[in-house]
Parts: sequence; structure tokens; C-alpha cells
Amino acid sequence: IKHIAVLTSGGDSPGMNAAIRAVSRACAFHEIKCTGVYRGYQGLIEGDFKELGPRTVKNLINRGGTFLKSARSKAFMTREGRNQAFEHLKNNSIDALVVIGGDGTFKGAEVFGNEFQFPIVGVPGTIDNDIRGTDHTIGYDTALNTVVEAIDKIRDTANSHNRLFLVEVMGRNAGDIALNAGIGAGAEEILIPEENLGKERLLESLKRSRKSGKTSSIIVVAEGDQIGKNIFELADYIDTNLDSYEVKVTVLGHIQRGGSPSCYDRVLASRLGIGAVDALINQHKAVMVGIAHKKIVNVPFEQALAGSNDIDTDLLRVADITSI
Ligand code: F6P
Repeated sequence: IKHIAVLTSGGDSPGMNAAIRAVSRACAFHEIKCTGVYRGYQGLIEGDFKELGPRTVKNLINRGGTFLKSARSKAFMTREGRNQAFEHLKNNSIDALVVIGGDGTFKGAEVFGNEFQFPIVGVPGTIDNDIRGTDHTIGYDTALNTVVEAIDKIRDTANSHNRLFLVEVMGRNAGDIALNAGIGAGAEEILIPEENLGKERLLESLKRSRKSGKTSSIIVVAEGDQIGKNIFELADYIDTNLDSYEVKVTVLGHIQRGGSPSCYDRVLASRLGIGAVDALINQHKAVMVGIAHKKIVNVPFEQALAGSNDIDTDLLRVADITSI
């Protein structure tokens, strides 16, 4: 391998810059040329490239977002778009590609790699932690800390006014952010798509906790949860059926994707970026580099894309017990 290109695609996540930096420096270490592709697959189609040296990526480890920018490219879903992308790779003598992103990014990589027999390695970068075969994705830890910090602030108002807050968090179809941040922030209830216990049970539980002496309540709702899908309807339902609290809704939104990455995400991104270059040197293709039991692993795209990780039932128990 003489020349590797790197891109970020899909939703940005804190730590993506640290991953690009690691790829670029691993290339320099192995004397491989490195090219950055702007705006994900869209930039690949348009040939929007820039050579990356070890100094091009200075002062980036602490920065959120992705300096290569990101996009969700519709054109890459067409054969014509992918042909153009392949032409640009060929014309620039690029031998392999590192793609940093989530499931949409890996799906695109799998199709493209098969079509053109082109070596691609994926690095999991998404706040959702919804990729199989890796314990954590880059950006997830930072997002958890952002959510916990936000809920701590909401709690001050909830306490001062005897209010019940429904806090909606991201995660697409996965409940990892909700469950872990919910435990970390001491939420009374956590609603996740992996476990649908129904509105009635929620109401009963809120009544019980009110009786036990609680004067305010925080319910963390994953955006993908069935009963939380329309969080304002859920708020109305609680408001109508429970008169002990004033009910408020906070949708945290994109603040969860921003900010300087945590140390954990910086280290993870550095390890996975280097792992991706190692994988290509060792002639792997169509794999994602992940982390399992603290070790770097190569997971075939097909496996990584087989849905979110199973929810940790021990964590559900922790949430139940600590919110009694
Ligand atoms: O995949 C990351 C994520 O932030 C999800 O949690 C969320 O559902 C989605 O992206 C939002 O996408 P967009 O930024 O395109 O609105």
C-alpha cells in the first residue's frame, strides 16, 4: 500500500478529528502517502482531495466536529456516482480508503468495495454507539458526558419547581445514550427502544415514586423509543393522568454531537485510526476496526452492520435499583 485516502461521512461525532490525525500520522510513520477527502462520499465523487501530512493535522486532537467536513451523499447511492468516485481514486493512484462514520458509511463502503474490489477499512465514529462488534464508537463517551451535564442543570429547575422533565436524547434506534446517561444523571425513568414497558407501567411507577416522597422527576427518553416517539404526546398523557407535577419537555438535539472530545474518545480515536492503517497494511478489506475487551479487532462490515449491540441487562437492573 502506497497511498491511503481518508474521509468522514454521516453525522459528525467528537473525536473524528483525532481519528483523521491518527490515520495521517500512521501513514507518515509507515511512509504511505495520505490524502484527505472533503465532505465524505460526496467529495469522493467530486474529487475534493487534499494531501495530509503529519503537520497538516496539528492542533486537531481537541477539536469537535470534523475538519474534513461530512455529508450524507445521495449521489453515492447511485452506480454513476460510485463510478465517478472510483475514477478519482484511480486517477490519484489511491490504493485504499479509510472511512470514519456510522452504519450508513459502512453500508456505502461495503457496496463500493465489492463493486470495484477496492480495499476499504471502516472506523466507527458516531455518538449512537449502535455498531456491532465494537464496545464503543468514537464520540459516544463525549456525548454521554454532554447529556449528563445538561441533565444535571435541568435537575436544578426540576427540584426548585417540583417539576417532571422529559428529556429526549439522540441515539437513532439505539438506547445506549439514554440508558447510560440516564443512570449517570440519576434519572427516575429511562425509556429505550430495546425495552417497551408501556405508558401504564410508566404512570404507575411515577405514582409510586411520588408517594415514596419524590418531589421532582427526570425521565430520559431515547429518540427511537416507541412511546417516546412523540414526546409531547407523552407529556400530555402524563400531565392528564398525574396531577402531582408540572410536566416539561426538553429535547437536547445537536448539542449532543458537538464539543471537545473526552480523553476516552481521543485515545479510542487514536487507537482505531492507527488500527485502520495497520489493517490495510495487513491486507484486510471490508472490515471495521473496533475495540472489544480493550483489544483492537477487525470486524467484517456485514457483522458490524447486523444491528445495534444487545442492551446490557445488568444496566437495566442498575437503573431500576438506583431509581427506587
Ligand atoms: O447518528 C447520529 C445522529 O445524531 C442520531 O443520533 C440522530 O438520529 C441523527 O444523527 C440526526 O441526524 P441529522 O444531524 O442529520 O439531523
